[in-house]
Amino acid sequence: MNRRELLKTATVGAGMLLTSGTARAGRKSPNDKLNIALIGVWGRGLAHYDSLSEENVVALCDVNESRFADALKRFPKAKTYIDWRKCLDQKDLDAVVCCTADHTHAFIANWALNRDLHVYMEKPLAISVEEARVVRANWLKRKGKLATQVGMQRHAMPNFDRLRELVRDGAIGELSAAYAWGNRQIRRDGYLPAEGQPPEGFHFDLWLGPSPAHPYNPGYFSGRAGANCLSWNMFWDFGVGQIGDMGSHTMDLLWNAIDAGLPTSAEAKGEKFNPDVTPVECESHFEHPANDWRGPIRVSWYQGGAMPRSPKPFVDLNQIGHGAMFKGSKGYIIADFASRILMPFGDNADLTYYKPRTPETVTPPMGHFQKQWLDACKNPSLKTACDFQYSADMIEQMLLGLVAYRVGRKINYDGAAGRVTNCPEANDLLRRQYRPGWTLDG
Ligand SMILES: NC(=O)c1ccc[n+]([C@@H]2O[C@H](COP(=O)([O-])OP(=O)(O)OC[C@H]3O[C@@H](n4cnc5c(N)ncnc54)[C@H](O)[C@@H]3O)[C@@H](O)[C@H]2O)c1
Repeated sequence: MNRRELLKTATVGAGMLLTSGTARAGRKSPNDKLNIALIGVWGRGLAHYDSLSEENVVALCDVNESRFADALKRFPKAKTYIDWRKCLDQKDLDAVVCCTADHTHAFIANWALNRDLHVYMEKPLAISVEEARVVRANWLKRKGKLATQVGMQRHAMPNFDRLRELVRDGAIGELSAAYAWGNRQIRRDGYLPAEGQPPEGFHFDLWLGPSPAHPYNPGYFSGRAGANCLSWNMFWDFGVGQIGDMGSHTMDLLWNAIDAGLPTSAEAKGEKFNPDVTPVECESHFEHPANDWRGPIRVSWYQGGAMPRSPKPFVDLNQIGHGAMFKGSKGYIIADFASRILMPFGDNADLTYYKPRTPETVTPPMGHFQKQWLDACKNPSLKTACDFQYSADMIEQMLLGLVAYRVGRKINYDGAAGRVTNCPEANDLLRRQYRPGWTLDG
């Protein structure tokens, strides 16, 4: 279904609803405003302040108490918490926006869904295959009642729809392969050594949460607002490196155009495995079965210097830091987030088979990304672009690439069962070990 069709369906659904109901039975916010908890109030949290100001922010949660003073200036009625598990038990909540470190995302998503709360989760949705699967299953049980969105806000850029239209409308013939890449390179040797003590009011043990214990080091917390994630997201216990970082945005550019679910195989290669740090240079390749509008395709992800081959030497893909390329029977499309090049290829690529859309048939702009979720919280029959099915499928694929990288061979995947069928040791890598006392699906 394209966005226009979705909007049509959603409008019909909206017409049938009498109120902008909230998730928890019997509870409504005054003036149809949502009661929202913001978990992780600084850094990426700041980017949500403007859209949240339109609603009632009734709870603020952060492991660093020094962040509350400024947040309370903006949201003075909110109660404060240092432990998200307590925060989620606040009785008047309708919805949660979560901007914590990656190793807590799937936990908070599950706990919130299990309490019938709408969720906006910063990317990545999960850092293990199991986490992605549990979150998706929890949401699918509540689809149509709860609104979900993963923070891949670049999705609102018009280029996402233009690429989808070009691919779907046959501008490059029959799609056979799609490639995405990112060239960010942040090298670390290993976890940081013990250094100093957490500042007063900073609850480092709660920050570690479900992950294995590591000593405190201020180096994990020295980044500027919105970029501090680059201080911890490359360590296996706290993130998944490029895949959770820019990779989530860039694979979204590709994912939006191909209508894929889970792959049937994954293979990967990269630099030597480091048990502390996720790889910088790596590439992974996935086989996806045919769907109702295209044949089987191969999807590839390249990071940290690995790159797909350019179709022609005069096109230097290295000039695109974070990009995507689609290969079809009659040409290529090469894109960054904001623009695209259509490259007809071969003797028959005369473009007579392709009709550009008219202004009437072009996909309408989706509007503000966070607002799309807020609207859907009030009317969950509305679709969100990056809901927990779309986003869990996407990150599950990327995470399978890391599993294939770790076992060093091609793995075959049974997506329905969530099992690797040809490599028992790969199945052990589909899940993470958690510290006692932390429950993924609580
Ligand atoms: N969508 C985007 O474009 C975008 C941009 C930047 C960051 N992010 C994502 O946002 C998240 C946060 O990134 P950041 O750079 O702001 O990180 P950060 O380390 O600055 O953390 C943000 C805030 O969350 C708090 N926090 C961390 N763990 C917490 C926990 N368990 N409970 C409560 N509070 C907690 C921190 O104290 C801090 O105030 C990451 O997952 C990152 O991938 C997304």
